[in-house]
Amino acid sequence: MFAERSYIDPDPDPLGRLLQERAAEGQGVIDLTASNPTQAGLRYDAATILGALGDPRALTYAPAPCGLPAARRAVAYYYRHRGVALEPARVLLTASTSEAYAAIFKLLGDPGEEILIPRPGYPLLSHLARFEGLRPVAYPARYREGLGWSLDLDVLEALVSPATRAVVAVSPNNPTGAYLKPQELAALDTLCARHGLALIVDEVFADYPAARGNARGYTVAGRTRALTFVLSGLSKVVGLPQVKLGWMAVGGEEALAQEACARLETLLDFYLSVGAPVQHAVGRLLGLGKGLRGQIQARLAANAGFLERRLSGGTGLRLLVREGGWYAVVAMDAPGGDERLLELVRRDRVLVHPGHFYGFDRPGCVVLSLLTPEATFRRGVEHLVARCGKI
Ligand SMILES: Cc1ncc(COP(=O)(O)O)c(C=O)c1O
Repeated sequence: MFAERSYIDPDPDPLGRLLQERAAEGQGVIDLTASNPTQAGLRYDAATILGALGDPRALTYAPAPCGLPAARRAVAYYYRHRGVALEPARVLLTASTSEAYAAIFKLLGDPGEEILIPRPGYPLLSHLARFEGLRPVAYPARYREGLGWSLDLDVLEALVSPATRAVVAVSPNNPTGAYLKPQELAALDTLCARHGLALIVDEVFADYPAARGNARGYTVAGRTRALTFVLSGLSKVVGLPQVKLGWMAVGGEEALAQEACARLETLLDFYLSVGAPVQHAVGRLLGLGKGLRGQIQARLAANAGFLERRLSGGTGLRLLVREGGWYAVVAMDAPGGDERLLELVRRDRVLVHPGHFYGFDRPGCVVLSLLTPEATFRRGVEHLVARCGKI
């Protein structure tokens, strides 16, 4: 009766089941996985947000497949602040970044064709590819102690087959926090151009570098020759996932980019899924972004600083090199990582994500959300050290 692509295994591993049970209990758990900014104790300017969303122009339905011109200009203006002059005509709006992926996958691949996605990486990507009938193929990143993550471009290229349609890069990656380095981008661009592949770069966390000056404002938009889609949205840029606005900036070789935009316009016209209120509000919402990002950055920095200090000095736990984003990865030296995590969740009621959710090869990795309110984060980390550190 049902399509194979609509099947998701409902039976996660024992840790996954336990996490679901504990999360459902709600009370009394210490949640170090939470990444919903609207429930993280941040201060939102409610009057401005609601005022912007209440613009009376939203009472008129004026269908525009790629988004209203003023809304597209507002997004292009956000990139201007990051040092890139984008044509608003090359900015296409969607209801979320996930929806932008779906549209691009429909544009590029026929059923059975392949998309290269990062590993470790954001677990949703393989589902998004499958839902469009495409086969996700994971390419690995390499971790070197003290140096951090880098792409293994030889391995990536060896995975390119006649069925490959695109390479997805997430910069900074979720959850490793690794930015795409300029030399990696140049190599990926060349590789994509050589093999006739599109490059999709997800920059939802690009505004959150770990260190001042590190990759600040760096965007791939406007920097490539291969057909490129740079994705982002209001979820992370202004901490408003519920208003539902994402976008893609289409770049690369002129004729290809033009045809991609024309085809996407036709495709998006069948859905018209972006609401009028958010399109009329986006300029003002992006204007609030700096303040919200400042609060989020302060939270991320405080939690990352605490984690680094707490794990130093022979705890048997190491914070992996992190360049940005909302997450931290902790590696355990002690054996039996997943059993210890089970105990951490079962007995201490601390929710964390095990590395294997994200495709980490090395056992004993834990992913923590740095967006967690600071007091909760500290309590959770104390339990983590006691349960999973050196004994
Ligand atoms: C890497 C990455 N891309 C995209 C998204 C989804 O963004 P949106 O809410 O705009 O669909 C997320 C959400 O956490 C993410 O981590």
